Amino acid sequence: MSDKKPEQLRSYRWFQQSPPGPKSCFGPRSRTMQNGYSLKEFAGRPVVGIINTWSDLSTCHGHLRERAQVVKRGVWQAGGFPVELPAMGLGEVMVKPSSMMYRNFLAMETEELIRQHPIDGVVMLGGCDKTTPGLVLGALSANVPAIYVPAGFMLGGHFRGESLGSGTSIWKLRDDLIAGDLPVEDWLKAEEVSSRTVGTCNTMGTASTMASIAESLGLCLPGSASVAAVDALHSRNCAEAGRRIVDLIWQGQTIRDIVTREAVENAVVTCLAAGGSTNAVIHLTAMARRAGHDFTIDEFDRLGREVPLLANVKPAGKYLMDDFQHAGGIVALQKQLERHLHLGAMTVNGKTLGENIANATLHNDDVIRPYDNPIARTALAVVRGNIAPRGAMMKPSAASEKLMTHRGKALVWDTAAEMDAEIHSDELDCDENTVFVLRNIGPQGAPGMPEWGMMPVPRKLLKQGVRDCVRISDARMSGTAFGTCLLHVTPEAAIGGPLALVQTGDWIELDVPNRRVHLDISDEEMERRKKEWVAPARHYERGYGTMFLDHILQADEGCDFDFLRDGAEIPEPQIR
Ligand code: FES
Repeated sequence: MSDKKPEQLRSYRWFQQSPPGPKSCFGPRSRTMQNGYSLKEFAGRPVVGIINTWSDLSTCHGHLRERAQVVKRGVWQAGGFPVELPAMGLGEVMVKPSSMMYRNFLAMETEELIRQHPIDGVVMLGGCDKTTPGLVLGALSANVPAIYVPAGFMLGGHFRGESLGSGTSIWKLRDDLIAGDLPVEDWLKAEEVSSRTVGTCNTMGTASTMASIAESLGLCLPGSASVAAVDALHSRNCAEAGRRIVDLIWQGQTIRDIVTREAVENAVVTCLAAGGSTNAVIHLTAMARRAGHDFTIDEFDRLGREVPLLANVKPAGKYLMDDFQHAGGIVALQKQLERHLHLGAMTVNGKTLGENIANATLHNDDVIRPYDNPIARTALAVVRGNIAPRGAMMKPSAASEKLMTHRGKALVWDTAAEMDAEIHSDELDCDENTVFVLRNIGPQGAPGMPEWGMMPVPRKLLKQGVRDCVRISDARMSGTAFGTCLLHVTPEAAIGGPLALVQTGDWIELDVPNRRVHLDISDEEMERRKKEWVAPARHYERGYGTMFLDHILQADEGCDFDFLRDGAEIPEPQIR
């Protein structure tokens, strides 16, 4: 099917001057010929940008250079002209202080790569945590046809006869090491075997969560959110994405035609049933708003009261992504959720979500539970109160049931450095009921809202056999993490949010069933402390950091930059 004519392609202004004249197209055409292409190979054909987040330091994406070639194969087969565009890789464990500082940078890069070049549509290759939202946010603002191909997950590691899940298993080994129950030699051995292949974390961490969200938004070929990076199916999906994007370009179907309000709700439902990362709340909020939808974090809580957790995958469950794929993967999960999904939502393969999952089969009902046998009733909850008036996130499915209602005395740290210096001291004044508070770790505070919200359990308590306690912060936590951690407290302490006013020794009440967190002091005392509060020093006075601090929004607004929000259309570049 061909709805567009070549002269209606966006790339036409760069490549197809008619009649031939003295300016404009000479440069783009001659310089493309410089790369060895004849005019007939690119002029009048859909130009597909393959936005590739491969880098040597983006270790989850180690295979994406090869996969870009496979996407090109598909584009050529369908009559398009593929061009590869490198974009920053944001390897989660390499980028400091936090890859979250650079998600919007990648979004801007993606948007402007598309806008500045003769690009008719894009296939985006990413997968490590911030790359999925960064790429999708940029494409949403550029609003061209787009397909997302997740990098796929790495195969599971094995250690001492047990499967080793990225992050989740390592945190547990870390606690054993700190408690003195794991020899250092074993810790180093685990380091060697934990990441066996290229690919993203093999738990339902932020990477697999965001891939599931991208697929639920309709942006991936069906099932591709749950394919191992080294699986031959991954290559076949890349080739198919290359072929399919050419169709989407001719049909003029842009990313915003796909990411409807219904698609966003499908993404929330799938995330909840998958036991997805708390980080998804921030990223999906940003994506929905970029797509022009009125969306708040409360959608996660509203749907979270209805949608059960069905994926028995770490950190909320016991299996790994490899098991999830073999059990039927994302489409088998969505098949269980039909009653909650908008099945008529269109996806990039030209079929509706309902058509894509119609024949999905569940092969293992312990890995993906049937609807009536969930592993938990509440995956994510939004909690509010006098120290979190704009909300905070909790993942009850990865927390301790007995701590869902809790009252304890606060032990407060103003910085992560202070916490690091004190937390494992035998003199630390705490017990299993203590509520540990870490603040100034939000978007402005840390800066970049790093994943420090899963504070370690103090050695003193680990030695007593305690493995979980209530922790509150304005930070995020890794999607692979677990524990009774109240996260994303908004507004953050560094801009004067009431979390800044908590003092060691104050009583704090947490009541997740009633979605409440409360600092037990009077309003008058709160006001008195507010007047005495002194803002922490600003982190940057030049460079990207200053732009970040000047424009970053709070967690409940998706941590987007204020100037990147959906708004007035940006004109196409002049070509002279
Ligand atoms: Fe890349 Fe976890 S470090 S997905």
